[in-house]
Amino acid sequence: MAIISSHNSRPHKPAREPSSTYQVKPPAEESLLIPSPTSEEKNNPKPEEKIRPQQLADYIGQRDLKQVLEIAIAAAKSRREPLDHLLLYGPPGLGKTTMALILATEMGVKCQITTAPSLEKPRDIAGLLVNQKPGEILFIDEIHRLSKMAEEILYPAMEDSRLDITIGQGRSARTRSIPLNKFTIVGATTRIGALTSPLRDRFGLIQRLRFYEVDELAQIVNRTAKLLKTPITPEGALEIARRSRGTPRIANRLLRRVRDYLEVKASGDITGEIAAIALELFNVDPLGLDWTDQHLLRIIIENFNGGPVGLETLAAASGEDAQTLEEVQEPYLMQIGFIQRTHRGRIATAKAWQHLGYEPPQKQLSLFG
Ligand SMILES: Nc1ncnc2c1ncn2[C@@H]1O[C@H](COP(=O)(O)OP(=O)(O)OP(=O)(O)O)[C@@H](O)[C@H]1O
Ligand SMILES: [Mg+2]
Repeated sequence: MAIISSHNSRPHKPAREPSSTYQVKPPAEESLLIPSPTSEEKNNPKPEEKIRPQQLADYIGQRDLKQVLEIAIAAAKSRREPLDHLLLYGPPGLGKTTMALILATEMGVKCQITTAPSLEKPRDIAGLLVNQKPGEILFIDEIHRLSKMAEEILYPAMEDSRLDITIGQGRSARTRSIPLNKFTIVGATTRIGALTSPLRDRFGLIQRLRFYEVDELAQIVNRTAKLLKTPITPEGALEIARRSRGTPRIANRLLRRVRDYLEVKASGDITGEIAAIALELFNVDPLGLDWTDQHLLRIIIENFNGGPVGLETLAAASGEDAQTLEEVQEPYLMQIGFIQRTHRGRIATAKAWQHLGYEPPQKQLSLFG
């Protein structure tokens, strides 16, 4: 095996020629692999709602989270009290909204859904709080984006079921307190670090959602296929699961695309082979990387000899926004062990070199071999 030991030498040529999908930037359509909803899905949320699990028993994976919540639900029910306030955090598409809706079903209460940016004015949030019935769930998505004012209204509401409002202005201003019903706030965020600590501290339960294992995603694909009345073999479900970046939303999206392919180009069940051919066609590689991921890794390898390279430099070199890199692309690449974050910057591991067909240098092999 050829070895590069010097830090400054150029990386070896790919051991095999990268396929053309690695080199040609696809047309500027939205990638299938972004974990947040595509604009098409946002405009037409009905298909996703159809396949969302409704009960805790249908919610696949996230065992720790489910255990914690099962206990919380049973305890709250036996005390005839609302659930404790719950904060769910983790990358997009892992099932935060779904879990909030399931909690409401399990508790037999209504769930009102809102997002922090829509609660800009004090009266928006005050109106919502006043209208909560006992035990109901108020789901606040993107809760790290609450305004300072909205947060301050929320504190006494969460702690003492009280709404403090200020009447009048200047010297004659007075504060009045209005009692509220006891209800539950479920907050969701992809950026727990961006939450202020007083807000974070007011949640009785703080739970992280993890990326799903391949076998869990295969179960999700099977479940969705059944709902869509699409026949699929176990290998077909596994093939889609492996390419779904640990994310149920992506698994369901890829399944739909493979189903389209089946309807037009093939027939019978979705087999492993059909799923693989269809997903190659959509530029989703066997580990769920697309052009953007491969481009990013190739830049670290070719331009920075595998790293370390700082986030901002990498963002500039790859033409991506640093925040998107850090919050959307990197978590999965780190999860599968392709990128490591060090105090000096990002490193492409030997696994990443090999996946793209490069001969990893000795330093990478010895570090992460
Ligand atoms: N545990 C699960 N079992 C089965 N399906 C799931 C599970 N989690 C999520 N899904 C599916 O994935 C889709 C996306 O989940 P959801 O909308 O809850 O993600 P989210 O974490 O709220 O994402 P975002 O951060 O973008 O709001 C759902 O429509 C649902 O069908
Ligand atoms: Mg959501």
